Amino acid sequence: MRYIVIGAGAVGGTIGARLFQGGHEVLLVARGAHHEALKTGGLRLITPHTTEILPIPAANGPVPTRDDDVLVLATKSQDTIAALEPWPRHLPVVCAQNGVDNERTTMRRFERVYGMCVWLPALHLEPGTVAAYGHPHSGMFHLGRYPQGVDDLAQQIVTDLTKSGFVALASPDVMRWKYGKLLSNLGNAIEALCERTQGIETLRERARAEGTAVLEEAGIPYSTPQEERESRGRRVDILPIDGVSRGGGSSWQSLAKSSGSIEADYLNGEIVLLGREYGIPTPVNEVLQREADRAAREKLPPGAMPVERLTALIDAA
Ligand SMILES: NC(=O)c1ccc[n+]([C@@H]2O[C@H](COP(=O)([O-])OP(=O)(O)OC[C@H]3O[C@@H](n4cnc5c(N)ncnc54)[C@H](OP(=O)(O)O)[C@@H]3O)[C@@H](O)[C@H]2O)c1
Repeated sequence: MRYIVIGAGAVGGTIGARLFQGGHEVLLVARGAHHEALKTGGLRLITPHTTEILPIPAANGPVPTRDDDVLVLATKSQDTIAALEPWPRHLPVVCAQNGVDNERTTMRRFERVYGMCVWLPALHLEPGTVAAYGHPHSGMFHLGRYPQGVDDLAQQIVTDLTKSGFVALASPDVMRWKYGKLLSNLGNAIEALCERTQGIETLRERARAEGTAVLEEAGIPYSTPQEERESRGRRVDILPIDGVSRGGGSSWQSLAKSSGSIEADYLNGEIVLLGREYGIPTPVNEVLQREADRAAREKLPPGAMPVERLTALIDAA
């Protein structure tokens, strides 16, 4: 089996690197300066105790495919459609992303879709380099067929990931885990806008409470933080890496890279969408979605908004 990782950034780069180290055939798909760096110098993987240069094959677009290929999609949610567009639709796709919309969007085009709930602290700010902070395992995944179930391929991928340095669990109800993760990710916009300053916890809790109320009303099951902690145990601790500090998660990194877009429409925006469908007001997540989108569009750096200002905007809403 060959793993074609589309979007070899923080998450995709780490998954590809670990599978490659585990002896699997891997192709990293990237673009621009990152692709150039991968092509000429390999992937530099930095972990809490090692730095390795890995000569993983890389491409900047579709390649001739084989029947044993698995597409691992690890772009931000807003890039899903464009990233998958050129790939043959008979191949299985694993959505290694946050949010809960990617699987459904993908299934409109691809028949075999797998959801993967990703708990993997990583950073990708510099072309050719990915830092992975999880220790002793680089990350934890729940993986299952979308919309539910576990088939032979899901089981095989879980086995390969387990042998490659991850905690991987086959889950017949993978979307329940992804909705639980979605509730945690409602804080991503706050961290990106205000950085990790005092006062953001209160906003996180307000965003989460609103999200929980919406999922309850919609009758959508979700995992709890306690379940996540119990699955993870002490198997994926976050350790510091000298000289490579991780200022924040994936949305923070979008602002830090001035990428011009952010995932908020698929995180806070998912709660806003459900709230509108079920007639529940979602002012906290609406403001977070709007302000995160604006910050990305205007290419503001992370932390440009004082937490007091964000709180005032939410209170006014
Ligand atoms: N970072 C974390 O710690 C973390 C943890 C858990 C879950 N997640 C989730 O994992 C997913 C990926 O996040 P990430 O942080 O790994 O993002 P990332 O570092 O930005 O990596 C995504 C990569 O996809 C590339 N890409 C986008 N469109 C593409 C296309 N059409 N063809 C080829 N490459 C393309 C991007 O290239 P450009 O840079 O050129 O746009 C980028 O290198 C998100 O859903 C995120 O929420 C992240």
